[in-house]
Amino acid sequence: MAGNANQVCSMGTLINLQNVGKTYITGSVANEVLKNVNLTIDEGEMVVILGPSGSGKSTLLNMLGGLDSASCGTITFGEKTVTELDDSRLSDFRAEDVGIVFQFYNLIPTLTAAENVALMSELGVEIMDPMEALKLVGLAGYENKFPSQMSGGQQQRVGIARALVVDPEIVFADEPTGNLDSNTTLEVLKLMQKIVHEKNQTMVMVTHDNYLASFGDKVIHIRDGKIIGIDEHPGGRTELNENEITDMYPGGTLAVPGEEITPYENA
Ligand SMILES: Nc1ncnc2c1ncn2[C@@H]1O[C@H](COP(=O)(O)OP(=O)(O)OP(=O)(O)O)[C@@H](O)[C@H]1O
Ligand SMILES: [Mg+2]
Repeated sequence: MAGNANQVCSMGTLINLQNVGKTYITGSVANEVLKNVNLTIDEGEMVVILGPSGSGKSTLLNMLGGLDSASCGTITFGEKTVTELDDSRLSDFRAEDVGIVFQFYNLIPTLTAAENVALMSELGVEIMDPMEALKLVGLAGYENKFPSQMSGGQQQRVGIARALVVDPEIVFADEPTGNLDSNTTLEVLKLMQKIVHEKNQTMVMVTHDNYLASFGDKVIHIRDGKIIGIDEHPGGRTELNENEITDMYPGGTLAVPGEEITPYENA
């Protein structure tokens, strides 16, 4: 299913990248951080971008969400060609079609959970009932709590509710569990997976962690700005084995032994 330049979008394709590249220019030095990226993201998929620090994960996510511009190539999102949108349309796209979950939650400390979730409506964006969004992430009854009165996992669930409240076409999450302990990480990850599977919500998550990546339906392996493999396992990992958590996630570094990388045709 990896994309190629002549690919015709199938019914379920939400995003298509063709020959996308990004070069940052600092002074007289050009740094090519994304090279010839071709991929498709289907509706209702949990896609994981997996790679080491500096490999270009956040850069790729920012391209997908219209937060940064591509230096070359084409990105289509449904009927829209993101790489051709002017600034005003791009800002509508970011506000209405995209939900973002941040590593450090980015909640406003002086606002309650419900007020944090409703924040986008202050910018004139149409949102669903914030209480419904909080219910969806298992925080019914927490609407009047302030961030300081909630655990890290609960705060991140508010962050997820805030991303979902605009009923986005897609949710992007850059290391959403990077600030959480191991058990809370798994709880938040399973919640995200449940939302994808039950609401058919398309989601793209960035991580450097093999084990967390195994919860995705599709894993995009990236190294030095290039896609080196795409694994597809629809449904992702759903079962958690307590011993496995203790053995494989003793507080930070995880690895899945024998992980296989599928050769990628356009790498
Ligand atoms: N605004 C920028 N200007 C110049 N270089 C940049 C800029 N943003 C990122 N880079 C470079 O692009 C490369 C990829 O960065 P990116 O942030 O995408 O990596 P990453 O995979 O998200 O890493 P991490 O896991 O540490 O977050 C790095 O070498 C980085 O230094
Ligand atoms: Mg990053």
